[in-house]
Amino acid sequence: MDATMNQKRALITGITGQDGSYLAGLLLNKGYDVHGLVRRSSSFNTGRIDAIYQDPHLAGVRLHLHYADLTDANSLSRLVRQIEPTEVYNLGAQSHVRVSFDQPIYTADASGVGALKLLEAVRDYRDHSGAPVRYYQASSSEMFGKVVEVPQTEKTPFYPRSPYGVAKVYAHWITVNYRESYGLHASCGILFNHESPRRGETFVTRKITRAVGRIHCGLQKKLYLGNLHAKRDWGFAGDYVEMMWRMLQQDQPDDYVVATGETHEVREFCEKAFARVGLDWRDFVEIDPRYLRPAEVDLLLGDPTKAKQKLGWEPTVTFDELVAMMVDADLELAQREKTLLDAGHSVTFKTSRD
Ligand code: NAP
Ligand code: GDD
Repeated sequence: MDATMNQKRALITGITGQDGSYLAGLLLNKGYDVHGLVRRSSSFNTGRIDAIYQDPHLAGVRLHLHYADLTDANSLSRLVRQIEPTEVYNLGAQSHVRVSFDQPIYTADASGVGALKLLEAVRDYRDHSGAPVRYYQASSSEMFGKVVEVPQTEKTPFYPRSPYGVAKVYAHWITVNYRESYGLHASCGILFNHESPRRGETFVTRKITRAVGRIHCGLQKKLYLGNLHAKRDWGFAGDYVEMMWRMLQQDQPDDYVVATGETHEVREFCEKAFARVGLDWRDFVEIDPRYLRPAEVDLLLGDPTKAKQKLGWEPTVTFDELVAMMVDADLELAQREKTLLDAGHSVTFKTSRD
């Protein structure tokens, strides 16, 4: 038998994002052949995976990148036929909640109907052994929105509060429907907020830690934020992608809440992040109403009991360790920026508009 026949082959949408980059690293380490969907951009968008793509031991051998888009159904079915994946991870999305109020239709298309387009592409597909492809859908705690119970479990009804949340509810239910209708091995991970030094700079944790680094190095004076009282259940992205993989290794597909079971206010994140470099957050943080949302999700707190029992879920990074990890990484980044500036180079830093 051809040796490549037994090779596990994953297709990851959203490979250029935070989670996609961690998942690609994890799967490559497990010996997978990894294929990533990249959407065309006029500027570089592969910064998070450049290190693994350019690794001479991996480049072009086990990590392959392909241009396609979740809004373009033809590109998705062509990719599936070409790659013949054994596992598909749908992580691609317009994932910014506030931006979804500005671009609700695009968000519905990419984050909602995009999942349907990908499911259609894999629905009748069987791998070399005749098995249906295993499919992971990146569902979100944002679907709980105006929460109807605390903590939230797999059985908590959804009450989304943003076009993004509504799009994710659609993607979630269409995935469940394809599982029930066509016997697809399709699982949804209802993941609560997870962060890392690779988090996009417009999400609140990274916006804060980026500012802490730059303020400490004298490169920024103030940090403008919106609602400081929102509470989130924040974990470390590296831990969460492991759960995506474990879901697809189960005999039966299912849906799981992945969370830490702790919740913290945005204000508390600020306090700890500034304290890490010996500063008092109250001297630097100001409220700018432009960062408030038309409808807010006030409190998220997940109950990961099912994931603990069935997937062996055990988060490895505490809230305090997460804050410290992100601040330390952004301090190093700001120090590098300062060195470049001091040497007369120009450094562009864009203040987050989200
Ligand atoms: P992220 O950093 O914003 O990455 C999103 C990815 O989707 C990027 O690779 C992006 O490409 C890609 N993308 C956007 N629009 C696309 C389109 N039309 N076609 C194809 N790809 C597209 O998000 P993340 O934090 O890694 O999250 C991964 C997934 O989990 C997302 O679906 C998100 O909604 C969901 N989720 C995240 C969290 C969290 O706390 N991080 C929690 C629950 C669920 P570019 O790089 O070109 O922009
Ligand atoms: N982005 C941002 N910028 N958020 C702010 C700011 C600000 O200046 N000031 C306060 N916040 C508050 C938001 O109002 C929200 O209540 C909270 O900080 C977290 O905002 P984000 O970090 O943008 O994350 P999110 O919870 O809205 O969405 C993230 O988590 C979801 C899972 O619950 C995203 O990663 C989604 O893609 C993901 O599904």
